[in-house]
Amino acid sequence: MKKLGLTKVDIMYIHWPFKTYKKRKEEVLKAFSELIDEGKIGYLGISNFTTNDIDEAIAKYDKQIVVNQVEMHPWLQQKALLDNLNNNNIKLVSYFPLMHGRINEVPELKEIAEKHKASPAQISLAWIMSKGAIPIPKSTTLNHLKDNFESQNIQLDEDDIKKIDEIKVVKRFADFPIIAPDWD
Ligand SMILES: NC(=O)c1ccc[n+]([C@@H]2O[C@H](COP(=O)([O-])OP(=O)(O)OC[C@H]3O[C@@H](n4cnc5c(N)ncnc54)[C@H](OP(=O)(O)O)[C@@H]3O)[C@@H](O)[C@H]2O)c1
Repeated sequence: MKKLGLTKVDIMYIHWPFKTYKKRKEEVLKAFSELIDEGKIGYLGISNFTTNDIDEAIAKYDKQIVVNQVEMHPWLQQKALLDNLNNNNIKLVSYFPLMHGRINEVPELKEIAEKHKASPAQISLAWIMSKGAIPIPKSTTLNHLKDNFESQNIQLDEDDIKKIDEIKVVKRFADFPIIAPDWD
C-alpha cells in the first residue's frame, strides 16, 4: 500500500484457486476477512474461480465476495458461471474482453459494428456490459483507449445481443494447464 500511495485497497483478489489457497482455503479466507475488519482492504475478490470453487468459497467465508474476475468475451460467454454469480450477488469482471487482441476476427461483431458505425471492440465491450459484467480492456494506444471508453455510449438492440449470444465458437485464451481449475 505504501508503494501504491494508498491507505486502503478497495478490492484484493485471490488470483487463482491454486497453491496456498488450494491447500489452506479456510485460513486464506479468514485472513482476508481480518484484513477487511482492520480496514486495510474493502472487499475480497476472486479470480478464475469455477462455479464449484465459488460455492465452496461462499460456504467457508463469513463476508460477501463482490467480484469474480474471469475470461469472458463472445467466444467464451460463461453463461453457467454468470447464472451462478447473479444468484450469489457477485459481479463478473471480464478479462480478455477483446480476446487478447483478436477481436477483429469475429464476423458477427464486424457486422454489428458496421450497423452502429462502431468498432468490433466497442461491440464486444457493449455486449459484455449488457450482461451486467464489467470489462477490463487493456490498450497501449490512445485511439483504442478512447474507442473502448466510448463503448459505454453504444446501445445494442435485442437482435444484436441475440446474434452474439448464438455464436457457436468457443475459445479460451488463458488456459495454463498447471494452474487451470476444472473449468465450467
Ligand atoms: N485475472 C487473471 O487471471 C487475468 C488473466 C489475464 C489478463 N487479465 C487482465 O485482463 C486485462 C486485459 O488483458 P489483455 O490486455 O491481455 O487482453 P484484452 O484487453 O482482451 O486485449 C488487449 C489487446 O487488444 C488490443 N486492443 C485494445 N483496444 C482495442 C480496440 N479498441 N480495437 C482493437 N484492438 C484493441 C490491444 O492492442 P493495443 O495495445 O495496440 O491497443 C491489445 O493487443 C488486463 O488488465 C490483465 O491484467 C487478468
